Amino acid sequence: MTAQTASMHKTSILDGKAIARDVTDAVAQVSATFAQTHGRQPGLSVVLVGEDPASQVYVRNKGRMAAKCGFASQTHRLSADVAQPELMALVDQLNADPGVDGILVQLPLPPQIGADAVLRAIDPTKDVDGFHPVNAGLLASGDVDTPLLPCTPAGIMHMIRRVHGADLSGLSAVVIGRSTIVGRPIAQLLLAANATVTIAHSRTPDIASVSRAADILVAAVGRPQLVGRDWVKPGATVIDVGINRIEDVNLGTSNLVGDVDFEAVAPIAGAITPVPGGVGPMTIAMLMGNTLKAAEARMR
Ligand code: GUN
Repeated sequence: MTAQTASMHKTSILDGKAIARDVTDAVAQVSATFAQTHGRQPGLSVVLVGEDPASQVYVRNKGRMAAKCGFASQTHRLSADVAQPELMALVDQLNADPGVDGILVQLPLPPQIGADAVLRAIDPTKDVDGFHPVNAGLLASGDVDTPLLPCTPAGIMHMIRRVHGADLSGLSAVVIGRSTIVGRPIAQLLLAANATVTIAHSRTPDIASVSRAADILVAAVGRPQLVGRDWVKPGATVIDVGINRIEDVNLGTSNLVGDVDFEAVAPIAGAITPVPGGVGPMTIAMLMGNTLKAAEARMR
């Protein structure tokens, strides 16, 4: 970069809170029409097992946002020592309930519960997390319209479209991380949008140089500030999915940092998401969108 272009460079900070508000405002409008048309509100049921503090915060926020969107939402709280059959019976009950359009079982689940079996028991048409193998399989088959899409990847794509539009032809996308919740599905969505996609992970040699080839870089590994300045191509769009809580035992404080070293990377990125206030708020917004989509599909 010349001195002049460097001074002209302006990084776009992708404001997840504002973009999420646009999404939930639109959901609330359509939800009101839905209620008028069908004589009932879209229904979201959230299941929380145990007392994990982070999960309690997430579930409370989901309930609040559901109310803002005009949904009928319920939270089912089960004790941490609940047995698998009791949880499965609740899922069956929610599957059969015509007023329930979306079912979300908050993760993580306690060790005595087989999480995969529980997630597979959810009716795929009510699977607003998009974690059921039927939805994951449709997405892996290249169908982005039929399935309920996992919320964080769907939210990331919404932000990427703001920067690059819907067609990512000619752009190189690198996803760091291969989780079933973020890494794999975001790679599928980027591919469906015509990006040239690479999935890098803990066994990838020279991951920094792989990362540096990306026009669009998605970091989803859960390693605080892993992505430094030399991992990023100047002008790249950098999406930080990490939410790492760093405790300072001496100061008795804790703060959230992403998988990207924001201070180091922001000056050279074209666009970047902050942590907090980036991808996080988008996840809940897309959950609301999925609930509405599930409700409308049920009424057809
Ligand atoms: N725990 C942390 N994030 C999520 C999420 O998006 N869905 C569920 N079900 N559990 C979570």
